[in-house]
Amino acid sequence: MALLIKNGEIVTGDSRYVADIWCEDATITRIGRDLPVPPGAEVVDATGKFVFPGFIDPHTHLHLPFMGTCAKDSFLSGTRAAVAGGTTTVFDMCCPPRSAEPADGLAEWMKKAAGRACCDYSFHMGVTRFDAGVEGQLRQIVAAGIQSFKIFLAYQGAFGIDDAELFKTLRLARELGVVTAAHCENAALITELQQQLLAEGKTGPEWHHASRPPRVEAGGVHHLMMFAELADAPVYIVHLSCREALEEAVRGRLRGVDVRIETLIQHLVLDKSAAERPDFEGAKFVMSPPLRDRENQSALWSALAQGLADTVATDHAPFDFQTQKTLGLGDFTKIPNGIPSISERIPLLYTHGVCTGRLDLHSLVNVASTNAAKIFNLFPRKGTIQPGADADVVVFDPAWRGTIFHAGQISAVDYNAFEGFEVRGRAAVVTLRGQIAARDGSPTGPAGRGQFLARS
Ligand code: URP
Ligand code: ZN
Ligand code: ZN
Repeated sequence: MALLIKNGEIVTGDSRYVADIWCEDATITRIGRDLPVPPGAEVVDATGKFVFPGFIDPHTHLHLPFMGTCAKDSFLSGTRAAVAGGTTTVFDMCCPPRSAEPADGLAEWMKKAAGRACCDYSFHMGVTRFDAGVEGQLRQIVAAGIQSFKIFLAYQGAFGIDDAELFKTLRLARELGVVTAAHCENAALITELQQQLLAEGKTGPEWHHASRPPRVEAGGVHHLMMFAELADAPVYIVHLSCREALEEAVRGRLRGVDVRIETLIQHLVLDKSAAERPDFEGAKFVMSPPLRDRENQSALWSALAQGLADTVATDHAPFDFQTQKTLGLGDFTKIPNGIPSISERIPLLYTHGVCTGRLDLHSLVNVASTNAAKIFNLFPRKGTIQPGADADVVVFDPAWRGTIFHAGQISAVDYNAFEGFEVRGRAAVVTLRGQIAARDGSPTGPAGRGQFLARS
């Protein structure tokens, strides 16, 4: 199968030029001007369009049993939504409960994804308990190509680990040369604040933020920095949401901690007022760390533009409003956490980042693709356009204008947090390993083409 993408403006993390891309089977084999059209090749005319490397979402929850329910999207619906929006690789969080064995958890996640995923995928291995048995399994899991761990300082009693377990996990990660992704919030403070608020009769979703203020997140980051420094282990902070947490991470970096920072599209374009909407509608916008005061957004955008923050992910954790978010009616602590955004990340990042001048095109590619590939050992197979790389590309039409509506979405969840948002630009053609996976916002081709990516 041969594919020729003609005359597009190729944009990578560090280069920009007009050329044709020739793909044979799954791989980019040639890049040049006026490449001949071989007989039988599929041709995509990219004139007037950008050609980006396939985008990578380093943080999704396509299978997530959590807070008494399970995230709504499957690997099929979630990755169809991903490719439609230009994402060709996802890293799903494999999060077995504390009582489960990691190997069983991984087998469960693998089974959910195999034959269903429409984009390529890997996992971050959740470490929700640490003991000798777990350690042995983690060694095997890393050897099998899952080269990153995920830990939670929050969600005590579910996924959260204690300090001794944190230190042991980081030391093992260092020994094995893998990065540990971390959810940073102080769990004990959250519990205390939640109980205090509920006792005062503050039970609605608008109180979620007060139970997890910026200091609680900054404290979690500070804690992680101390442990990473002493274990001499590389870490990746997931879903960093506010200036105070950013300052703690930067302080750690200045002390020499090898720390990478992820922020989310939700924290960049939505703010805390959404979770304050009346009649429980705010529950649609409950996630952790919470949506913040709008002032934080300028700090996050500048951190991305300056290379202080490395990636923009979705933390796609979809729970239906009608049947799942309502588990927290009368008690905000029981609202399943998460705001879905797997399809919307790239158009929103382009609209609110590039079109406003906050990000240049190279930064867009770096924070939405290249950096994740580099941090998590997929570069240069993924995250760039060059001979030898997988033929995952996004032919992006910057002239397109549209509005986000739940009615048109592919994700299975029953609402869209960005309802009515206007967007500029969209993925006109998306290829996954040399085959067209989406056109004009709709997935095409057979489901289940996504492959597990063993990393080394
Ligand atoms: O609210 C969130 N972020 N939900 C998903 C689980 C997590 O913490 O990543
Ligand atoms: Zn988290
Ligand atoms: Zn998450």
